[in-house]
Amino acid sequence: MSSIVLFGPPGAGKGTQAERIMTSTGLPQVSTGDMLRAAVKDQTPTGIEAKEYMEAGKLVPDSIIIELIKQRIKLPDAVNGVMFDGFPRTVPQAEALSEITDVSHVIAIEVPDERIVDRICGRYSCASCGLVFHETFNPVPKSGCSCGNFVEKRRADDNKDTVLSRLSAYHEQTSPLAEWYENLGIFHRINGDREIDLISHDILLALEN
Ligand code: AP5
Repeated sequence: MSSIVLFGPPGAGKGTQAERIMTSTGLPQVSTGDMLRAAVKDQTPTGIEAKEYMEAGKLVPDSIIIELIKQRIKLPDAVNGVMFDGFPRTVPQAEALSEITDVSHVIAIEVPDERIVDRICGRYSCASCGLVFHETFNPVPKSGCSCGNFVEKRRADDNKDTVLSRLSAYHEQTSPLAEWYENLGIFHRINGDREIDLISHDILLALEN
């Protein structure tokens, strides 16, 4: 099987949907955002360089991202393809990806800008298992997180100022990729401004085609 790409603005629900469709597809999630945050935490050379871009809500340079992906897809779990979450985000990244692996579907989760700030500013996750929640739209269940060890965590870049920069970066540098993938006939638009379960259902339908 080839790889799939989850595409969309910050806060569209890429990570939320990746968790849900991982079990159905068997494809491991490859999130460049998660990889970069791990590198920042570990203070690796990549993390040290990426940190200032991430804190400013700007895209990390293509050379760093492409190298991260090249190394990641050499791991044994990527042999049957992966689910890219937040990659590619620029035309050079898409060009590099086309030389690395086949992509069968690009799933574009579409959410209007005016919903994005509320989504991101209300986001938290479980530090133990990584599951993503939202204060209003998707709170941790009263019984607690399914991992049994809920510890609340917030992202450093989840604030209003950074979100607006991330949205600008998305419109200027990432959204032009839609045309690139539409021309390849593998671009599937999904209305992401609905209940989480309905979106997962439509993504799985798109993946069956
Ligand atoms: P990254 O971590 O990829 O962040 P992002 O793209 O900005 O996307 P998010 O993770 O913020 O949102 P999401 O779509 O996963 O939404 P989620 O499911 O959490 O990147 C961070 C930074 O790293 C970038 O700014 C950049 O600096 C750098 N970077 C990463 N990749 C890069 C690349 N390829 N090139 C260059 N730089 C790169 O949902 C959001 C919230 O909404 C949650 O609280 C959730 O519970 C809630 N929610 C989800 N679905 C719904 C729904 N249907 N209704 C209501 N609420 C919902």
